[in-house]
Amino acid sequence: MTLEQIRALVTADFEAVDRVIKQRLHSQVALVDQVATYIIHAGGKRLRPLLVLLAARACGHQARAHIDAAAIIEFIHTATLLHDDVVDDSSLRRGRDTANAVFGNPTSVLVGDFLYSRAFQMMVDFDRMRIMQILADATNAIAEGEVLQLMNARDANTTEIRYIEVIQRKTARLFEAGARIAAVLSDQSPAIEDSLAQYGKHLGTAFQLVDDTLDYEANEESLGKHLGDDLAEGKPTLPLIYALQHGNPAQQTLIRHAIEQGGREHLAEITRAVASLGGLAYTAALAAQEADQALAALASLRESPYKQGLCALARFAVARKN
Ligand code: IPE
Ligand code: IPE
Ligand code: MG
Ligand code: MG
Repeated sequence: MTLEQIRALVTADFEAVDRVIKQRLHSQVALVDQVATYIIHAGGKRLRPLLVLLAARACGHQARAHIDAAAIIEFIHTATLLHDDVVDDSSLRRGRDTANAVFGNPTSVLVGDFLYSRAFQMMVDFDRMRIMQILADATNAIAEGEVLQLMNARDANTTEIRYIEVIQRKTARLFEAGARIAAVLSDQSPAIEDSLAQYGKHLGTAFQLVDDTLDYEANEESLGKHLGDDLAEGKPTLPLIYALQHGNPAQQTLIRHAIEQGGREHLAEITRAVASLGGLAYTAALAAQEADQALAALASLRESPYKQGLCALARFAVARKN
């Protein structure tokens, strides 16, 4: 199933989410409005709202709470992107100049805060403490993940374990929360809620593992982001950690220095080393294992086209090129 085919399972819901996103984006402060519109209208895959919609429908959800939940998750995601591009000094996102490149770092950070707080305003409307708790905890974990990543930056001794700690917080946690709230809103048993949460967690982990391979090997145009941003920031992602462990002494010195210094000077050479030493293949294989675990977690859900959509989403996370 392609992403379009997966979306087609929930077309009406998906369009409703888009309407909510566009309505709730607005602010009376012109610059907030302009920047929030700039990033949201740039598109993006809308994978997290898709996951919320499919998970809710797979649970037999009929009301419209899942639409608002999906929009909330996308707002949180977008807020993290505004902040992340400042922290990573990135200049291209969704095929456009990043908000920080166009409007500057202070504006990006503050409009990111606006989107976070708008998401919390929307959450309060559910009037359900459990939903607040799940999303507050997830948002907090994302912030921890980004700070942990900052602590690993330019540290060539970063281990695979420390890397996994980062990606589970900064990325997997939001997928996990999205899947979990879909179950909570649909009044599912704790067992189903946990199965969906496990699905989201493994899917999100696979998604970030693949993102970290794409930073070395994607087509820039279809990715809509510049390649090499991770190396430029001295970020020891798994492809690089693996290559550092398996290179000859000359390669190890090259990679170690690149992590410690950052920059793009040796990008081409390091990209070749990361590929030839198996760093990309190793990371992709781990992503495939995570996707398999995501699929296994769905075993207890009753059969439906929506469940098939969730399965296809896990496969997409691994096969994607953008
Ligand atoms: C980018 O996420 C941030 C990561 C967690 C890697 P997406 O690749 O889902 O971004 P958009 O929303 O499609 O632009
Ligand atoms: C994901 O990490 C960031 C967040 C979860 C906010 P990356 O830094 O790899 O994401 P991209 O590559 O900039 O989209
Ligand atoms: Mg980034
Ligand atoms: Mg990335």
